[in-house]
Amino acid sequence: MLSVLKNAITKVNLADEPLAGHKIATDPVIEGLVNDLADEVMVMNESIEGIRKPQASLAEQSKKLIDHIGVLRGRPLYHNYIGTGAGRGPFVELEDGSVKMDLINGIGIHLMGHSNPRVMKAAIRGALSDIIMQGNLQPNMEYVKLAEKLVQIAGRKSRIKHAWFSTCGTMANENALKMARQKNSPAKLVFAMKNAFAGRSTMMAEITDNPAYKQGLPEYNEVLRIPNYDKKDPQSAEKALRAMKEQYAKNEKNVSCFSFEPMLGEGGFVPTPREFYVPMLDFCQQHKIAVWVDEVQTFARTGEFFAFESLDIGQYVDMVTIAKTVQLGATLYTEEYNPKPGLIAGTFSGGSTSMATGLEMLEMLEEGYLGPNGRIAQIHNRFVAGLNAINEGTCKGLVRDAGGMGLMLAFTPFDGTKDQVEALIKKLFNNGMIAFGCGKDPVRIRFLVPAVIQDHEIDLAVQIVEQTILQGL
Ligand SMILES: Cc1ncc(COP(=O)(O)O)c(C=O)c1O
Repeated sequence: MLSVLKNAITKVNLADEPLAGHKIATDPVIEGLVNDLADEVMVMNESIEGIRKPQASLAEQSKKLIDHIGVLRGRPLYHNYIGTGAGRGPFVELEDGSVKMDLINGIGIHLMGHSNPRVMKAAIRGALSDIIMQGNLQPNMEYVKLAEKLVQIAGRKSRIKHAWFSTCGTMANENALKMARQKNSPAKLVFAMKNAFAGRSTMMAEITDNPAYKQGLPEYNEVLRIPNYDKKDPQSAEKALRAMKEQYAKNEKNVSCFSFEPMLGEGGFVPTPREFYVPMLDFCQQHKIAVWVDEVQTFARTGEFFAFESLDIGQYVDMVTIAKTVQLGATLYTEEYNPKPGLIAGTFSGGSTSMATGLEMLEMLEEGYLGPNGRIAQIHNRFVAGLNAINEGTCKGLVRDAGGMGLMLAFTPFDGTKDQVEALIKKLFNNGMIAFGCGKDPVRIRFLVPAVIQDHEIDLAVQIVEQTILQGL
């Protein structure tokens, strides 16, 4: 019995064959099969060429499905949307037979659009892994590679040294908050912007400045609000700093961090200049208040990997949180904020396919999408110019203040009331475009544009906005 055991151990130890996992990763037969599988799917996706109306024969069944999911969730879907699982670039096929131009992409998940062949191949690779979800106890190589990439790109213009995965932006934010509170213990309060959105957990709902998202929840009174940038007010930066100083004076030694989105999503996608943030960041640095940039929405979208690079505020950053485009959540942090063992963990770190596809998309971005003349900047400029042109022309004054950062765009339709925007979103949907709202006063139309959109597709998007606005309310 002992000798059998000894032989088994010896056999394993002496084997110098390539590891099975390495063979799977490099084997040409598997490579061919992955390519063939994705290519075959793409042949079918080729029938998706542009916007298509629903098919009468599918309408009834699709409506039943949409109603059914509403009953299961206890709340109807916002859009009459159930995807078939097929799409191409900015276009997605729905169960009612229609094809829509998707300019919201799951609120910013599908950075490379629908059915991107490279992303699909990376996803198949991820699915070939021995496990579906990776854990923080037993990671695989996808975990190593993605963490390495994130630390490398984040550390180029900041002091960030570490990355910790989670499964969504909310949890990445919770981890950041815990790190800030532990390092600056017993300080617990949080500086956060007016109109902030931070996620859906109890504490992130508290940081979020929207009463509709926390009806019936208790107030914990742990957030100190800072007024927003107002481009019409030259004193805006001064007012924000003053508010921060006043709040600090009342709560000295009890502020753990300053959490902010480089451009507020719920705040209406109003680009905010560096000069607005810098005085507050200086103040936080001086008082050892953690600077935590919530880039859950801005990451990979502003024309640089991080909006903190676009705004050139990397030297201030202690923690950055990301999610959405990278297909899982991550908290990135400096050596100083590296928490004590035990503070952050969790069973899941993320799915193998999420890690493989997140990494693939980051690598794709480095192939011409970034920088002042990169594709993201070109898309932004063409889209904004198109919207401005109709605002000057056929839709005079009805498509106001088009702008944003990179692939995050918004405009104010009509008078920017909630009812007008809700009605317009439904009409855009019926005319083949998927959009969403943002902001409060005014309410705006929001687009999270896929990086793969072509120039003629941007022109088509502007045309749809124009025609829909001209149909009136
Ligand atoms: C700025 C910001 N923070 C946090 C979150 C929450 O992320 P998740 O929905 O992945 O939990 C979001 C989501 O929209 C966000 O935009």
